[in-house]
Amino acid sequence: MRLRETCGVGFAIVLCAFSSGVQAQSLYGIGRPATATEIAGWNIDIGRDGSNLPEGSGSVSHGRKVFAQLCASCHGEKGEGGLGDRLAGGQGTIGTPKPIRTVGSYWPYAPTLFDYIRRAMPQNAPQSLSDEDVYAVSAFILNLNGLVGENATLDAKSLAAVKMPNRDSFVGDARPDVKR
Ligand code: HEC
Repeated sequence: MRLRETCGVGFAIVLCAFSSGVQAQSLYGIGRPATATEIAGWNIDIGRDGSNLPEGSGSVSHGRKVFAQLCASCHGEKGEGGLGDRLAGGQGTIGTPKPIRTVGSYWPYAPTLFDYIRRAMPQNAPQSLSDEDVYAVSAFILNLNGLVGENATLDAKSLAAVKMPNRDSFVGDARPDVKR
């Protein structure tokens, strides 16, 4: 609900900017339409099917190093959790009275991992990782969860191809205008 409201406001502002941009400039002498390049900097959403994933790739072994350096202080050496969430294990616990929610046990789509890490992690320096490093730590976290092999290297195609164990346990989106 909150998300939809936020979108609504954003949409209204954009519409406003488009319809009255020229007038506003001459009236107040401030503001200009955002350029395509400026918008591109914000438009970093990755689809759950992997659409919009960038070029590049990253290996489990490189991810292990990046994780040890930048993530383990909060998430533990093996993603066991600490200050930050537990990232590994818990598979098979979701339907039990004590569910352990991790990337491996709960998250339905692997490309979301790329989106989330690139956008928000490390929490003390978000958006500081290169795309290669994001691919690599994603691969390492998936490896901690037994979902890709030790020697795996992930790119847009192979990350989207990882089937998350809990994917089919989510209820589909029932809105009539949403394709399932
Ligand atoms: C300063 C502490 C800190 C560091 C460093 C950090 N994280 Fe996090 N991380 C957190 C916290 C706290 C959360 C929970 C955030 C929330 O729920 O809003 C989180 C959440 C996450 C999640 C989502 C877990 C879930 O199931 O919801 C992932 C994935 C993740 N971090 C990956 C990483 C990676 C990869 C790195 C290193 C590049 C990293 N984090 C570095 C503190 C940290």
